[in-house]
Amino acid sequence: MIRPILLHPDPRLKKICADVPDLTDELRTLADDMLQTMYDAPGVGLAAPQVGILHRLIVLDCVKEEGETARPLIMFNPEIIASSDEKNVYEEGCLSIPDLFADVTRPKIVQVRWMDRDGNEQNEEMDGLWATCVQHEIDHLEGKLFIDHIKPLRRQMITRKMVKLKRELARG
Ligand code: NI
Repeated sequence: MIRPILLHPDPRLKKICADVPDLTDELRTLADDMLQTMYDAPGVGLAAPQVGILHRLIVLDCVKEEGETARPLIMFNPEIIASSDEKNVYEEGCLSIPDLFADVTRPKIVQVRWMDRDGNEQNEEMDGLWATCVQHEIDHLEGKLFIDHIKPLRRQMITRKMVKLKRELARG
């Protein structure tokens, strides 16, 4: 089921999300819905608060090349356990801030630990777009958006555009 994606500014996108203590069928269904919602958008990552659920759950798939095999990842309670000193700059976007982009600097390589859909612990080193994406999605679980990493003036400009867009959408 495709779920509606919340748009910035929204108080639910500013909240710190709660740990997932035990996997339930309800949470697995949520994760599957989030992947479907992400592919439909389309996007490369989605965090539970973006569909209004304040739990520590993210999904991602950074395989973008046509013909390459998809690699959907479902991560419960994801954690960055190590980051490289080396940094990387990516032009980031967000499904909660459609069509607006900004350069964000983050560690280039991160070690991530999470619980998968079967409740097994996973641990992986991520680089490139995967590293950027997983950090962006984990930020969402802390109530943080990519625009919180950029200069205040640019952030305010993006927020103003989003307020205007939401007003237009509400008018229909
Ligand atoms: Ni995002």
